[in-house]
Amino acid sequence: SETGCLSIIVLGASGDLAKKKTFPALFNLYRQGFLQSNEVHIFGYARTKISDDELRNRIRGYLIQGSGSSDKQLEEVSKFLQLIKYISGSYDSGEGFQLLDKEISGYEFSKNTVEGSSRRLFYLALPPSVYPSVCKMIKNNCMNKSDLGGWTRIVVEKPFGKDLGSAEQLSAQIGELFDEPQIYRIDHYLGKELVQNLLVLRFANRFFLPLWNRDNIANVQIVFREDFGTEGRGGYFDEYGIIRDIIQNHLLQVFCLVAMEKPVSLKPEHIRDEKVKVLQSVVPIKDEEVVLGQYKGYRDDPTVPDNSNTPTFATVVLRVHNERWEGVPFILKAGKALNSRKAEIRIQFKDVPGDIFKCQKQGRNEFVIRLQPLEAMYMKLTVKQPGLEMSTVQSELDLSYGQRYQGVTIPEAYERLILDTIRGDQQHFVRRDELKAAWEIFTPLLHRIDDGEVKPLTYQLGSRGPAEADQLLERAGYVQTHGYIWIPPTL
Ligand code: BG6
Repeated sequence: SETGCLSIIVLGASGDLAKKKTFPALFNLYRQGFLQSNEVHIFGYARTKISDDELRNRIRGYLIQGSGSSDKQLEEVSKFLQLIKYISGSYDSGEGFQLLDKEISGYEFSKNTVEGSSRRLFYLALPPSVYPSVCKMIKNNCMNKSDLGGWTRIVVEKPFGKDLGSAEQLSAQIGELFDEPQIYRIDHYLGKELVQNLLVLRFANRFFLPLWNRDNIANVQIVFREDFGTEGRGGYFDEYGIIRDIIQNHLLQVFCLVAMEKPVSLKPEHIRDEKVKVLQSVVPIKDEEVVLGQYKGYRDDPTVPDNSNTPTFATVVLRVHNERWEGVPFILKAGKALNSRKAEIRIQFKDVPGDIFKCQKQGRNEFVIRLQPLEAMYMKLTVKQPGLEMSTVQSELDLSYGQRYQGVTIPEAYERLILDTIRGDQQHFVRRDELKAAWEIFTPLLHRIDDGEVKPLTYQLGSRGPAEADQLLERAGYVQTHGYIWIPPTL
C-alpha cells in the first residue's frame, strides 16, 4: 500500500550526510507537494542529547541555502521544520528504539488517516559499521504493525564493505533481518538526470540500436573529475581510495547502463537482471591496464598517514567478454585534485572504412553525454566548413539541457531517489547480487593495492593526472580530436 501515514526516520540526524543531503532532499519533496503535512512525519534519531528545536536549528541553514530567503521561502522552511521531531538514543540498545517506536506509533494513532495503515522509512545516514546493529534494533522494536497494512523499508548508503568478503558479510547480516524488497541501497549517480536518461536514449531511438556494438564503437570512456582534493575527509578517504569511493560504485553503475543488453521490460527486476549479467561478463583486470595516481600534498593532510598508498586517481580498463563488446575497451577514469570538475561518458566510433576525407579530418565521431556540470549530450561529427572552400571541420549536434529545457529545474539525485523509496520503486537501487558482482571485479586489484604491491604515481595538484594515464588511453585505442573543443552554448 502506498497511501496512509508515512513516517520517515533519519538515523544519524545530526551528521553530515543528513544535514547536507537527506534533509534538503526531503524539504524539496515537501515543497513540491510530494510530502503532504497531513500524512507525513519526520523523525531524527542520533546519540547527541539535543532538543527538537536544536536539531531544527542545525538543519535550517542547509535548507535556506537551496531555497532562497524571501518571506515565503522562510515560512516554508519553518513549516517543514515543524514536521521534524528529534529522539536521542544509542545505536545498539533497545531503549532508544523502543522510545522511537512509541513516538512513531503515537503519531500514527493520532493521524488515523487511511484506516490504520503505516509506512515506515528508515534512512540510515550512518557509517556502515553500525548497520547490522541498527537493523537489528529496527527489526526488534520498530517494525510497522503488519496486520494493519503498510510497510517498513530501510535505505542504506555506500560504502557497502571494503571488498567482496566484507560486503558479502554485511549483506548477509542485513539479509537475515530484511528481505531484498525492503532494502534500498543508494548509489546517488543513479539519481542523476542524464544517468536516468541512458535507458531511454539507448532503447527508444533507432539511431543508436544498430551502432551500439563492437562493429562500430572503438572505445568507451566513463570519466569523473574533481578539481578539489580530499580536504576534511582524509580520514574516511584514506581507508577507501578512489576506486572504492567512485569507480566500483558510481562509474560502474554508469558502465552497466551503457553496456547492458536490452531488458525484457522496464520492470526493476528485469533491468537489474541485465546489469548483473554484464557485470558478470567483465574479465579480470590486467595490471598493464591500470594506472594509479596520488596527488602531491595528499599526505600533508593530518588525517592521512605519511606513508599512505591510497590512490586519489585511477584509470582502469574493463573488458567485456560477450558478443556485443569483445575487443572494446571501457576506460573508467576518476580523480581528485585535477584541473577540472566534470563527469561524462564518451563513446568513440571507429574510423570510416575507405574514407576519402581521411587526410583532412580532425577526428572521429564521438557521442558525449555530459552528466555534470551543465547537462548535455552532443555528437561530434565532420561537416563541410561553411564557405567557398571545400574543406571539412569537426562540429557537433548539441542538446544542451540549459538551452533546450529553459526554466526546467533538474531535481537533485537524492530527491528523486528518496521519492522512489516512498513509492517502492527499486529500479535505481543496487540489488544484492549486483553489488557482489561489482566487488568481484575490483577486489583482486584492491587487495594488491592494500598490500602495497601496486603503487600510485605522483601527480601535480590541478593537473590532468599522471601522464601514464593518457598513454594508457592511447594504447587502448582512443584517438584525440585535434583543434576542437566543445563550447557549451550560452543562454
Ligand atoms: C561521493 C564520494 O559518493 O560522490 C565523494 O564519496 C564525491 O568523494 C561525490 O565527491 C561526488 O558526487 P557528485 O554528485 O558531486 O558528483
